[in-house]
Amino acid sequence: MYPLLFRVVLTRLDPEFAHHAGMAVIRVLGVPPFSWATRALTKPPAEQRVRALGLDFPSPFGIAAGFDKNAVGVRGLAALGFGHVEVGTITAVPQEGNPKPRLFRLVPDRAVINRMGFNNAGADAAAKRLVKLRRRKPDTIIGVNIGKSRVVDVENATADYVTSATTLAPLADYLAVNVSSPNTPGLRGLQAVETLAPLLRAVKDAAGATPLLVKIAPDLPDEEIEAIAQLAVAEGLAGIIAHNTTIGRDGLSTAPAKVEAAGAGGLSGAPLRERSMEVLKVVRAAVPNDFCVISVGGVETAGDVRARLDAGATLVQGYTAFLYRGPFWGRQINRGLRSGR
Ligand code: FNR
Repeated sequence: MYPLLFRVVLTRLDPEFAHHAGMAVIRVLGVPPFSWATRALTKPPAEQRVRALGLDFPSPFGIAAGFDKNAVGVRGLAALGFGHVEVGTITAVPQEGNPKPRLFRLVPDRAVINRMGFNNAGADAAAKRLVKLRRRKPDTIIGVNIGKSRVVDVENATADYVTSATTLAPLADYLAVNVSSPNTPGLRGLQAVETLAPLLRAVKDAAGATPLLVKIAPDLPDEEIEAIAQLAVAEGLAGIIAHNTTIGRDGLSTAPAKVEAAGAGGLSGAPLRERSMEVLKVVRAAVPNDFCVISVGGVETAGDVRARLDAGATLVQGYTAFLYRGPFWGRQINRGLRSGR
């Protein structure tokens, strides 16, 4: 029943509709008594706790940014076993994102292409949700990922990020500056060290005591990744999230016509795995041992998570495999980590 239902979801349902339907279920799972029942099945074992960013993560494995853009499913995602939830990307100005369709499955590659374009309800709406969530104390860590509002020119990006940081940092366990989405024109240009340095400095000032991380793209040359990693350390950031989706399309098994029909956007999922490991190694070699490195890209199994941790990741995130593996993916990873599978 479960595999059949899943095949229908994977092949028939519009991917964005399927996402919203899945999120509706996740929200229900976050509410008692459903959360108690789910939690009993999925709670990560105590030995999986990780101390990082001055926080106690219940598991090294969390859900990456983009899945819960508006912080509506945090309690459900926690109940499903994710040790942290990175909400967002949130922008200072609410925005609709790009026209639909904007999310495409590449089933043979266990991948997706998205050009969502930071569809979100804005920083003020997210802040209201986060205030309520904080009162309920979900058993997970909440990272907040911020990005540039589309209506703001790249030249004025810093002030826009600072607005979001000022509103959201007091409500976040950590704050992530997203300068790596391919779906906001000009955003990735902010990764140039001369531009990034003043941006990070200003956001760090606004973030106060909240640990600040920067999320980078996998498409940068290794020397630039190394330079950003060194900059992050020099600017007193708490960590790096490596990495976002790729604009590359190499090595795919999906029919080229189908890939082309999807059009522009970021590719995520299994095809990122190899590059993601490379990027992790470049970053880890450029930062001190106690600097937090969150590895994300192409993780599907507990073995993948273990390999990232062994290669120096402090924490690991995933998104796309959740769409392919189903609601108990977090539990599978936690169980697999415990049993060494
Ligand atoms: C994303 N990702 C993403 N990242 C981010 O920083 N802000 C965002 O808003 C989004 N939105 C988003 C939407 C969709 C549909 C996908 C599939 C991905 C990127 C995500 O957090 C992650 O970095 C990449 O997807 C790589 O991890 P996986 O999916 O290969 O595990």
